[in-house]
Amino acid sequence: MFDADTYRSRRRTLQQQERPASGLVLLLGNQPSPRNYAANPHPFRQDSTFLYYFGLERPNLCGLIDLDAGTSTLYGEQGTLEDVIWSGASPSLQEEATTAGVRSVAPLSDLASTLTDARSQGRPLHFLPPYRDAHRLRYESLLGIRPDRVDAFVSEALIRAVVRQRSVKSDAEVSQIEDALEHTAGIHQYAQRHAAPGVPEQTILGGMTGRLAEANRSFAFTPTCSIHGEVLHNHSYPNTLAEGDLLLVDAGANSPLHYAGDITRVTPVGGSFTARQAEIYEAVLAAQEDALAALAPDVPFIDIHRRAAHTLTERLMEIGLMQGKAEAAVEAGAHALFFPHGLGHMIGLDVHDMESLGEDLVGYADDQSRPDQFGLDALRLARPLRPGFVVSVEPGCYFIPPLIERWQDEGRHEAFINYDRVGDFLGFGGIRIEDDALVTDDGSRVLGPDLPKSVQAVEARAGTAASA
Ligand code: GLY
Ligand code: MN
Repeated sequence: MFDADTYRSRRRTLQQQERPASGLVLLLGNQPSPRNYAANPHPFRQDSTFLYYFGLERPNLCGLIDLDAGTSTLYGEQGTLEDVIWSGASPSLQEEATTAGVRSVAPLSDLASTLTDARSQGRPLHFLPPYRDAHRLRYESLLGIRPDRVDAFVSEALIRAVVRQRSVKSDAEVSQIEDALEHTAGIHQYAQRHAAPGVPEQTILGGMTGRLAEANRSFAFTPTCSIHGEVLHNHSYPNTLAEGDLLLVDAGANSPLHYAGDITRVTPVGGSFTARQAEIYEAVLAAQEDALAALAPDVPFIDIHRRAAHTLTERLMEIGLMQGKAEAAVEAGAHALFFPHGLGHMIGLDVHDMESLGEDLVGYADDQSRPDQFGLDALRLARPLRPGFVVSVEPGCYFIPPLIERWQDEGRHEAFINYDRVGDFLGFGGIRIEDDALVTDDGSRVLGPDLPKSVQAVEARAGTAASA
């Protein structure tokens, strides 16, 4: 945990925000999530907003912040003798609360009546959208709202206040992300060195998993480790690497306080990119470097997305995959055949930070609306950047056979896409290059250790462990 003052001051900031002005804020901690029966749960992960304001990792807690009185109460249960026998001793609820700067604790069984009393006095109650069914059930038991009706009652004012606060990372939070990136870089180096013909994807994944486990870390999200990088979130690992494949690894470690790293690198299996692979790789790298150079306060991230798309499109035109004027092609959305996702997202306690609070409220300013053009509609972050934002920058270029087939059949964007040439690239796979950057007062800084990404640097590492 950070020190108690950190959590106290975060709650005070929430309370003093212009909105929500009054009433109670109810923050649900997570409950254990069973794999197949209650006593065999998935590894516990606390709710990120609860972690942000209370820092405690114990399951089954709820926090109640009284915006008018400026006080907080932690609701939970004391451990039982049975808990001690099966799981070992844990601190008392009061001791845990103290570490989060909270003086008042109460049994969870008191919470429903406290909320009922407050509501009968007409006090506003603010709570966040549920992303687990267990939260819907808890809202039902606490507030009597039917699980399928909960979304209609969530507090947009609270969402906006939380987003404002969590979007700007403190130095201590940036240090956590840097710590996550140290371990993230370590597993990417491992993957690059082991990317050799004959090595199963699963073996590389196993090695990365082992490195994290040895360091008492875990993945911040399910990793991609695949020669089919054209599948954007590829979570299966059945293939064995062969000479000429491209191994795409999109993986990130957690920091001790659960901040995420999120990096993508592509390694040529066999040690060298083919000329065609190198051309596409350089195109993606140019798009990423242009985007990183453009990160600065007040610049809308959607403009940086368009800039990356423009650079990529110019390169694809040089390669002969696209044609016409790059600006018009990007305006029309033709590049999305190759780059069908957004340039990036915020990173923090969640790898897609705060996504559970609603992508549009997190990623879009009030005067921006989410575009409906294919590709651009997947842009999670569009808003003007501010110092303290931590964002991923992750352009890619993919050859997705069913998408190509569909567009070609429809004759979509024929003026900009050279489908004959695209046909030569079926089976290419995909390339994405991703780093995480902090927006500073006058620009930005890529976080974490340098993880080289030039063609030469990547080739120099590829498969070196296997050939040693
Ligand atoms: N690293 C996974 C993603 O950004 O979607
Ligand atoms: Mn990412």
